[in-house]
Amino acid sequence: MARSLLLVVPAALVLAVPAVAVAAPVQYQAENASISNGLVESNHAGFTGSGFVNYDNEVGSSVEFTVTAASPGPATLTFRFANGQTANRPMDISVNGSLAADELSFPSTGAWTSWTTRSTAVTLTAGTNTIRTVATTSNGGPNLDRVDVEAQSGTPDTVAPTAPGSLRSTATTATSVSLAWNASTDNVGVTGYVLSTGQTATGTTHTVSGLTPDTPYTFTVQARDAAGNLSGASNSISVRTQPGGTRPHDVNGLLRVCGVQLCNQYGKPVQLRGMSTHGIQWYHQCSKSQWWDALVNDWNADFIRVAMYIQEDGYETDPRRFTDMVHGYIEEATRRGIYVLVDWHQLDPGDPNYNLSRAKTFFTEIANRHKDKTNIIYDIANEPNNVSWSRVKSYAEQMIPVIRTIDPDSLIVSGTNGWSTFGHSDGDSPSEVLNNRVNATNFMYSFHFYAQAHRDEYLSVLDQVSSQVPVFVTEFGTQAASGGGTNDFTMSQRYVDLMARKKISWANWNFSDDGLTGAVFKTGTCSGTAFAGTGVLKPAGVWVRERIRTPDDFPTS
Ligand code: GCU
Ligand code: CA
Ligand code: CA
Repeated sequence: MARSLLLVVPAALVLAVPAVAVAAPVQYQAENASISNGLVESNHAGFTGSGFVNYDNEVGSSVEFTVTAASPGPATLTFRFANGQTANRPMDISVNGSLAADELSFPSTGAWTSWTTRSTAVTLTAGTNTIRTVATTSNGGPNLDRVDVEAQSGTPDTVAPTAPGSLRSTATTATSVSLAWNASTDNVGVTGYVLSTGQTATGTTHTVSGLTPDTPYTFTVQARDAAGNLSGASNSISVRTQPGGTRPHDVNGLLRVCGVQLCNQYGKPVQLRGMSTHGIQWYHQCSKSQWWDALVNDWNADFIRVAMYIQEDGYETDPRRFTDMVHGYIEEATRRGIYVLVDWHQLDPGDPNYNLSRAKTFFTEIANRHKDKTNIIYDIANEPNNVSWSRVKSYAEQMIPVIRTIDPDSLIVSGTNGWSTFGHSDGDSPSEVLNNRVNATNFMYSFHFYAQAHRDEYLSVLDQVSSQVPVFVTEFGTQAASGGGTNDFTMSQRYVDLMARKKISWANWNFSDDGLTGAVFKTGTCSGTAFAGTGVLKPAGVWVRERIRTPDDFPTS
């Protein structure tokens, strides 16, 4: 049953709605008005505000006030002035260009320090009004201190705004629902919206927080105007909050880079451990519900890396089909409460700029579709190689704004030169990256290694760079760089220990059944439906499963 929040209406809201509009006078200081042929002065005591206007002593000197009225109708203008001479100093008072008082008298007050008031009745329109005071004799106007505008009761605005349209939910978490609706209109003006929760909004969006996980809530919204008129209710919607509990994304929420680490929604450093798919152009058939069940429930993975090749029969051959495939992986990961790293798996050619316009097209659609999710990680370049760091950096600085414009707050990762080794595999020094960093926030650099081939030198590069910049190991294997050959679990364990100690997130290559040693499943597993347990795994699978499924350390306070 949906939990209704309709009855929670704060007392302050009720009190703010008068039966008849009786506006208190609003003061407009002459020294803040628009002055033509006059000066702001303060040399005669008794003024209010910071001074008064001394009209030039000539016909036509003027002061023009801009005043607002909540509703159309009669109002009283009360001018506060001093006239230290004996002669009357009449002025024409006009409202919105029409003469409202012809030669209104401003008689002598006996001294420049004796201030008094002069009132006149006018009619105002709702919203902005122009009140002009123009001297009609060669004495000019009096010294004018201010005007008080008091709307009269009797013709209150009783017309309610139209009901807001298309109330909808734009995002949910375990404890919050984000709402949006179409704007209302009103004869005078909409001043805000009141949700059925009792909360108010000035614009057409609002996030209701502090909710209970996995619980349905119903919402409506009404518009209000300055006179307190409430519109009818919008359409009613029922929205279920996300499950709470212990799933990786439920606990950690939106990720943010914090220093050189990755932090969860509580600002606490976390390490995510997950699995990479094989190239989805070759191994999409593995993506069955039992394969996902094994990844999430048996392996306890925190995320999946979706390896979408661009070349090698990948994205470039059918952008529509591959983009849709990636949408599917994202939705499945989201349903299952884990993160999803969208891997733009450029590889050959190694210069990511070769695929720049494709990457813009792809990530624009991905970001537009999924921007309201908080479990997306964008990896814009898998393994740049045979290309300088400056070219990679230039690519990253063109791609990041494309994504950020649409999805401002999600984590973005990019590979580094030398197949994501901070240049090491290309014979370059990591200092090329460290001394010329990507100009972006909430951004991480990726590092890849294959432990049988990449030994102490690479381990020390990872240790060095991860102390200086945020690093995400988006791919590693326990064997040769091909993903095949002999496993070196001893060397692999040294990497895993370093990454645990420094909370460096990692993904292992790969969660398929290809023939190489680095594919965790025995050949043929993906044609069946059994993926859980160790019986279906090769040695590398048994080893890495054990290292993913150990308990996470996800601090919440
Ligand atoms: C004096 C006085 C001014 C005043 C002026 C006038 O100069 O100080 O404040 O405006 O007379 O007669 O208009
Ligand atoms: Ca004067
Ligand atoms: Ca109204």
